Amino acid sequence: MAQLTYVSRSVGLITLQNPPVNALSAAVRQGIVDTVERALNDPKVKSVVICGQNGIFCGGADITEFNKNMTGPPLVPMIHAIEAMNKPVVAAIEGSAFGGGLEVALGCHYRIAHSKARLGLPEVTLGLLPGAGGTQRLPRLIGIPAALSLITTGRHVTATEALQLGIVDQVTDHNAVDVAVKFAQSIAGQPLDYRRISNYPCPRPSDLDALFEDMMQKVRQSARGAIAPVACVQAVRAAATLPYAQGMEREKELMATLFTSGQARALQYFFFAQRAAGKWMMPSGARWDTSKPRPVHKAAVIGLGTMGRGITVALAQTGLSVVAVETQEKQLMEAKQEVSGMLQRGAKRRGVAPALDRISYSQNIQAVADVDLVIEAVFENMALKKKVFQQLSAVCKPGTFLFTNTSTLDVDQLASETPNPELVVGMHFFAPAHVMKLLEVVYGPRSSPQAVATAIQLGKKMGKASVAVGNCHGFVGNRMLKPYINQASFLLEEGATPELVDRALVEFGFSMGAFRMSDLSGLDIAWKIRKEEGMVQLGMASGPSARIRHGCRYSPLGDLLCEQGRFGQKSGQGWYQYDKPGGRIARSDPWLHRFLEEYRARHGLVARNIDQQEVLERCLYSLINEGFRILEDGIAAGPEDIDVIYVFGYGWPRHRGGPMFYAGMVGLAKVLERLEHYHQAHPDVPSLQPCGLLRRLVASGSPPVNKWREVIKKLHSQL
Ligand code: NAI
Repeated sequence: MAQLTYVSRSVGLITLQNPPVNALSAAVRQGIVDTVERALNDPKVKSVVICGQNGIFCGGADITEFNKNMTGPPLVPMIHAIEAMNKPVVAAIEGSAFGGGLEVALGCHYRIAHSKARLGLPEVTLGLLPGAGGTQRLPRLIGIPAALSLITTGRHVTATEALQLGIVDQVTDHNAVDVAVKFAQSIAGQPLDYRRISNYPCPRPSDLDALFEDMMQKVRQSARGAIAPVACVQAVRAAATLPYAQGMEREKELMATLFTSGQARALQYFFFAQRAAGKWMMPSGARWDTSKPRPVHKAAVIGLGTMGRGITVALAQTGLSVVAVETQEKQLMEAKQEVSGMLQRGAKRRGVAPALDRISYSQNIQAVADVDLVIEAVFENMALKKKVFQQLSAVCKPGTFLFTNTSTLDVDQLASETPNPELVVGMHFFAPAHVMKLLEVVYGPRSSPQAVATAIQLGKKMGKASVAVGNCHGFVGNRMLKPYINQASFLLEEGATPELVDRALVEFGFSMGAFRMSDLSGLDIAWKIRKEEGMVQLGMASGPSARIRHGCRYSPLGDLLCEQGRFGQKSGQGWYQYDKPGGRIARSDPWLHRFLEEYRARHGLVARNIDQQEVLERCLYSLINEGFRILEDGIAAGPEDIDVIYVFGYGWPRHRGGPMFYAGMVGLAKVLERLEHYHQAHPDVPSLQPCGLLRRLVASGSPPVNKWREVIKKLHSQL
């Protein structure tokens, strides 16, 4: 709701009241309409201030109302009524003014913001556009380039930037409501026509067409198939080329198209999926977060290679003291330099002092005796990690949490090396660890809820999307990636090229295709793991049973490339060629195409034409199928957890909601039918065999994704 009170006799103060962020629910909109009318008709009121309770102006639309029938007054006429008032209206912006909240402020005649406030139009991140006049008023107020940069990205700006851009008229360190009230009193009776933004002409640069063409190209490139940013550009173009009323019509049409699109549904689903995953339930439905995390002040990182360096930076940036241990002197020297560089660059970007003095370095594991938790990031080798865990158990003070960044090893086996297995948890970061937003927190059968809670909380403090997952080979993300990568390789054997496969995946919306990704992360890493697992032995890749392992289809193509020293980007050659080792531009490699032809000839394989649809169905549906198995096994608590992992860790396009949501959009029956089809064609590929849970969901009428947990729970209770 909204309340009207009288301040200093002549100012009507309208306060939005809807905790926690004063979202514009039907009741709040009705409250605004009523209070505006009362203020308008009350002769005592000479000017009006709009603010939000509890130091927050307004967080925007009430997203929970999106999929319901609209009740209450619509936003657009409500904002017009504010703008049309013949008494000055001042927005007092404290905390945040986002989305519809900022659009309300743009309908006011003046805007005064507290210096700590943040403003923005984030609708595009939910697959929409600012549809209450935001696309028409903002360009009129701050010009087309600045408005486009805000509206097409949804980025937030600080009060200072908002002042520089001209979004607000004044920034204050004092109470913004008090300042706004005083200001409102001082301008009572002044003319308002020149303060109504809808009356402003939209500034038109001379090269308007070129500007929009350029912007459209940029947006299409970065949007990777998302339609909302494109619609945002079209709406702003309407502001620049049409009179206000017609521009509003165009905004409405574009909004209607977006509102009913699958992408908006996917993005809104993903918004809630992040919250659901944040609650980190156990597959049984019990919640971990009833356990209190233990406070952590000092942490240690063991092993300063690629991962350890990034983890050290992330911990120091969170404000923790860090002891960084590395046994190899050369590595230690390099790590010191690299960590300092990363901290300095990060601090410069954020305008803060670098946290260099929070880190102490040592070659001796004894240095970790007084830390609250340890994150181990030594080589991926079970014997070595076991030894490190034994040493840590002897050195650390009692109760120290022992976390491992292993990407494939059994967390519970490591726990067995310590007298307190309940303190051991996996903390699976992604490279580069100080940048990537995903963290899988791996709980073993003996991990205590408090240890898991502490790992999750630490991850959240580092700004990571932290998802609790069960202990199995590859955990969630890498386990699902395996069948996807396998399918990509099988497609090469059957006649595709890396370019064809990658193109299909990029057009789907991935930031890069399977082969480009594999070149980037290094083919040798997976090769080393396969060798340690005994999947690959010398000579096997070219021997008679090259294409079969444990009775199932296997593609040795990656092994063959590694045998030739083609490790990907780092060595200058992999599935593509690069201008130099470490070079970033991937080019098609004629050698690779010849190599594939020779390989097919050697194994009697006849290349056939493979289209994009087959690439997508085989790569994506096999990945999704593994996702169903993960749910069936109780390794992830729900489909939302998997989707959060895939969007934040694996470049799955957010506007497609994540793999499990996407399966629902395609139709579970169709996914099942295609998997059956491909499994019939490739019976020696078990990952194509449809999972029991998928069959069960289809049999129970393909419920929407937010109902899957119930089916899974029933399944587990029957086991
Ligand atoms: P790396 O090879 O770059 O670094 C390992 C470091 O550990 C080396 O500097 C080595 O000298 C040091 N080390 C070895 N034994 C040690 C000991 N006893 N005490 C102290 N330091 C010791 O390895 P990377 O890539 O950083 O991987 C580390 C861990 O992170 C592995 O378990 C890996 O599976 C996991 N991981 C790696 C990812 C990646 O993309 N590289 C992603 C996610 C997890």
